[in-house]
Amino acid sequence: MVKTFAMLAVLLGCSSAWATDEGTDKDTLAERIAPVGQVCIEGKPCAAATAAAAVTAPAASASTATRTPEQLVQQVCSGCHGSGVMGAPKIGDKADWAPRIAKGMDTLLNHALNGFNNKMPPRGTCTTCTDDEIKAAIQYMTDKSR
Ligand code: HEC
Repeated sequence: MVKTFAMLAVLLGCSSAWATDEGTDKDTLAERIAPVGQVCIEGKPCAAATAAAAVTAPAASASTATRTPEQLVQQVCSGCHGSGVMGAPKIGDKADWAPRIAKGMDTLLNHALNGFNNKMPPRGTCTTCTDDEIKAAIQYMTDKSR
């Protein structure tokens, strides 16, 4: 209890110091003295949710901005094509890819864009990927698997 009072006194001391601080802008002051643990109320944005959104936002925009075929393959395709999930041809596995490569790029691209055999999802689930990006990703995977 004594400790709590001591902390309160310190906090109050600090905030009044800020309040009298010349040039302290009111908004920053409000931010500084805002309660640390804010309660999340359903339907209202809460501090933790906003923080989480702020953390995930850059990652999301990074994946839609310029990415190299290698990054795209690593972020999207290798989820299945890395280990061969559901029989996906594995990156680097010549035997897996030889019969696919033999179909020609047009067919592979068509299957990658529209999905194939109910196993390869359209665009490999990358809804923000352009046709060219998908093509470059296929090129990257097949180049690694010849
Ligand atoms: C959810 C898992 C999954 C993801 C993610 C995925 N693939 Fe596939 N992909 C598969 C599977 C499974 C097959 C094999 C389907 C079959 O032959 O039955 C396949 C097959 C392919 C083929 C060969 C098609 C053919 O005609 O033989 C290409 C090309 C391909 N994927 C490209 C991609 C690209 C490019 C990406 C990333 C943008 C990607 N895939 C992401 C599961 C996936």
